[in-house]
Amino acid sequence: MTTKQLQEELLTLKKKNQVTILAHYYQPIEIQEIADYVGDSLGLSQKVSKINSEYLIFAGVDFMAETASILNQDKHVLIPNYESCCPMAAFLTPELVREFKNEYPDLPVVVYVNSTATVKAESDICCTSSNAVKVVNNIGIEFNVESVLFGPDANLADYTEQISGIRCIPMPDIGHCYVHSQIKPEHLMEMRKKFPHANLLVHPECTRKVRELADFVGSTAHMYYKVKNSSSNDIDFIIGTEIGLIQRMTQDFPEKNFYPVMDKLICYNMKKHNLELIKYLLENLDDKTFEVKVPAEIAKRAIKPIEKMLDFS
Ligand code: 13P
Ligand code: SF4
Repeated sequence: MTTKQLQEELLTLKKKNQVTILAHYYQPIEIQEIADYVGDSLGLSQKVSKINSEYLIFAGVDFMAETASILNQDKHVLIPNYESCCPMAAFLTPELVREFKNEYPDLPVVVYVNSTATVKAESDICCTSSNAVKVVNNIGIEFNVESVLFGPDANLADYTEQISGIRCIPMPDIGHCYVHSQIKPEHLMEMRKKFPHANLLVHPECTRKVRELADFVGSTAHMYYKVKNSSSNDIDFIIGTEIGLIQRMTQDFPEKNFYPVMDKLICYNMKKHNLELIKYLLENLDDKTFEVKVPAEIAKRAIKPIEKMLDFS
């Protein structure tokens, strides 16, 4: 069976069973093509809070499916491969958050959505890379402080501090994304030499040295819309994020050229899903093996910082 035929079969099954499929921009392109909605972490959280179908298949990493489950406790959230996790989330445990809170009892806790539900339950507000600056500014005003605790991504904390002027104390200072951390200044300099007229876009999960060499720093959705709204004279774009976004933009904007900032910039965790696994789910919707359910006690606490973030966005 060809990929196209399998995709058609899945679209029929999805319609028949009234299932919604959500996918992150880093998903394999053949999954993005059959999804009802493709977006960044913020867009997906916003979408998830407005879904009507009883079953929801989340093609993303586990924290995204957990967020969907927290926001839709009466629905069934399924993940095609339960081994798809975000290693960055492991940098921050609830115990570590409590240690920081003891040390800085007056500071609000801002937690990146790339975190476990138990960590979110310890926080005052969540953020994504799209809204971190806005969230930190607002929470700073609300708590009347000029510093916040921020985790687990130390690079996003640094970026948010640079733009907002609010000190973002990283929890911990080594938290990072293994995909974006591979990008080094020399990769950017090499690409600049090859394509001197290209726009260079990078994700805020990159290190400061890399961000400082870019023309634009933004989340996956911000990069997508930067390209979408660019003038017809802007043809060439060097992209510093996971390859899935480049595949998406190549399809949506065929008149532009996209160059990955380095080879093999792949989030292997995001790529653990495939069409066959989604087919299995669509044919076995009640197989609890793949259902993501956050315990009610945790969900009750974690929903507050997530909803607070959505209210601010
Ligand atoms: P955004 O989709 O919010 O840009 O985040 C990228 C990411 O690493 C998701 O895990
Ligand atoms: Fe986590 Fe980085 Fe993969 Fe995003 S790209 S899911 S932050 S490891």
